[in-house]
Formats: sequence, C-alpha cells, structure tokens
Amino acid sequence: MRTKSPLPLRDSGRRRLGCAAVAVALTGVLTLTACGSNSSSDDSPGGTDGGGANGTVGVILPETATSARWETFDKPMLQEALRAEGFAADVQNAQGDVQKFSTLADGMIAKGVKVLIIASINSEVGSAVASKAKKAGIPTIDYDRLNLGGSSDYYVSFDNVKVGELQGQALATALKDKPGGEVVEIEGAPTDNNATLFYQGQQKVLKPLYDSGALKLVRSQPIDGWDNQKGGTTFEQILTGNGGRVDGVVAANDGLAGAVITVLKKNGLNGKVPVTGQDATVDGLKAVLRGDQYMTVFKPIRDEAQAAAKLAVALAKGDTATADGLAQGVSQDPKGNRNVKSVLLQPQTVLRADVKTVTDAGYVKAADICSGDVQTACTELGIR
Ligand code: BGC
Repeated sequence: MRTKSPLPLRDSGRRRLGCAAVAVALTGVLTLTACGSNSSSDDSPGGTDGGGANGTVGVILPETATSARWETFDKPMLQEALRAEGFAADVQNAQGDVQKFSTLADGMIAKGVKVLIIASINSEVGSAVASKAKKAGIPTIDYDRLNLGGSSDYYVSFDNVKVGELQGQALATALKDKPGGEVVEIEGAPTDNNATLFYQGQQKVLKPLYDSGALKLVRSQPIDGWDNQKGGTTFEQILTGNGGRVDGVVAANDGLAGAVITVLKKNGLNGKVPVTGQDATVDGLKAVLRGDQYMTVFKPIRDEAQAAAKLAVALAKGDTATADGLAQGVSQDPKGNRNVKSVLLQPQTVLRADVKTVTDAGYVKAADICSGDVQTACTELGIR
C-alpha cells in the first residue's frame, strides 16, 4: 500500500516557472522554441519536406517539461521513422494542456490524417480523441502511454513494469551494505498508467526488502503531472519531516531525479545518496557521470518510433494481419477490461560505466555531455 501523505502536496495553486525557465532549469538542453505556442512540426504535403506518398500521420506528444525525452528523442525519431515509411509527419506537442491536446486532435482529424499516434496527458483525453478518430475512420495507436478505457487497437511502448524493476534492483544493489536504509519514493503522475507500472515493478523488488526490514520506506509520493519542480519541493518536505535522513531515493524519471538532486545538494548529500532515474536524458546522463545520480533507464526510443511507424503503415492500408504480426505482446487495460495488442520493447539499466552505450548508440552526442565538470569522467570512460 502506498503511504498517504499528510502534507498539502496536491494543492491546486502550484507555482510554475515560466515555460522557458522550466525548460532551461530542468534540462539545460531544450531549445526555447519548444516552449512557444508553436512547438509543432508540420511537414505534411505543402509543408517543409513536402513528402509523404502514403499521406500524413499525425502525432500528438503530451508534454515538454515532464521529461526532455519528448522533444529531444520522440519528436525527431518519429519524424524520421514516419518519413522512412513514406509518410509526412505532423508532430505536435500539447504542452501538458488537455484542451490543447483535443484541439490538436480535432485539427488532425479534420485534415484527414491516415493514422493518429497519441501519447496522451491522461487516459480521459486520450480515450476521447481515440473515439473521435474512430468515428472519422482514422485508426489510432496509443504511443508510450496506454489509455485506460480507451479504444485504440494497438499500443507501442516499453515493458514498463520492467523499467520499475530495473530502478528497484539498482537501488537495492546500491543500498545492500546499508541495512535498514531509509528510502523515499518520488513517483510519476497518478493519471499516467506508466507511473503505475513503474511503481509495480519497483515494488516487486523493494517491497520484500521493506517487509524484512532490510530497507525502510519513509514515504512513497506520486507527483501530479510529473511536475519536476513539485517533485523537488515534495522531496524537500519529506526529507525535513524525516529529520534530514535519507539513504536512497527512487525517482521515477530523470526530471524528478534532477529536482531531488538539487535538494540533496543543498543538504550536502548529493553523491552520497543513490537516486534512480529514467530516460537517459542529457541532464540525467551528466548527473550519472558526476555520481549524483546512481542510474538511469535507457529506453531505445528510435525502436519505439520505428515500431509505431511500421504499425501505422499496416493500419493505413487496413492490413490488420501485418499489424497483428508486429504487435505480438499484450497490455492489460483494467478499466476497459480488455487486452490491447502491443509492441513492448526492452529497457536497459545505465550505471556510470554504461553511459558510453547511450552515446555509442547515437542517442546523445558525447559533445552534449562531455564538458565542464564531467569532462574527466568522459575521458576516464572513453566517451568521445
Ligand atoms: C514516460 C517516461 C517519461 C514520463 C514523463 C512516462 O509516461 O514513459 O519516459 O519520463 O512519462 O514524461
């Protein structure tokens, strides 16, 4: 059972930095253009690349500030994968705004995209969009996040329970010589089914350790909207409430990990307290190289984008046999009480010694991480 917070953590009046400030503070790499109202990319016929013998596929991404992945990896990789399959790609980002998510979908449906790929902010808006598209005869693919109670026939993602297991396992290893080590869990949005799956995976490993007393859970706290800044203030309150004691932190992604590390730093604890992460972002990898973050999870998003693009080709042709051949996994939708045909890819743990695998795979350029105080680590680990 998750510990309920007595703290006023879910106040609606949360303060947000301006978008530009958030982007820079959280990622250090996001371009400011990703923050404008027009962070879209439309290369549909008549657009910049004019291509797309197979027509246009619409993609709606959920946010920018919750993780650098969406703009840094998903957007360019989906564009590339869709073009390679002969589509023009109209990739837009709803910036965490459900209204905008629906409006973008309406526009894409009206212009007659062949397929709609959606990574939604929450299941409600995702399901509403899928059902509108279905009425217009446009197939939808749930991308990365499954819409509970939705109607998309296919889902492309990673084995998200496994992601959580990797996080839990890494923390357990890091704390193996700290009997009774005190753990704080800073989790993702309760409205994102992935956050639930990450939590399930973590608990597979950690719950037996809490039960046996090998580790001690201080608190597990979901963070609304994956709000990184709120993750930091929440962690700070929990730390203070626990007399400043913490031995390990489960942070559900690199953005939350970065916010936790900022608080640890203020308390002289960074580098001493292992923190998990996810997404292998530039900032996450740098923190891993510095020793401030114990691990991140690398999800090869190019493969996710390519799987979605291949499915899109089959669905655009109405070729369900091919689509079914691609999506041989299943995901359970407990709300809709159905199984959704899925492509579920494998995540990988990245410890300090593994950062090179991410740069070698071409996800992040060595030049983007190897500067300033991480240069020595890069040299030591042969990252160039
Ligand atoms: C994704 C993660 C991401 C998080 C916040 C999840 O649904 O799977 O990769 O870090 O959302 O954007």
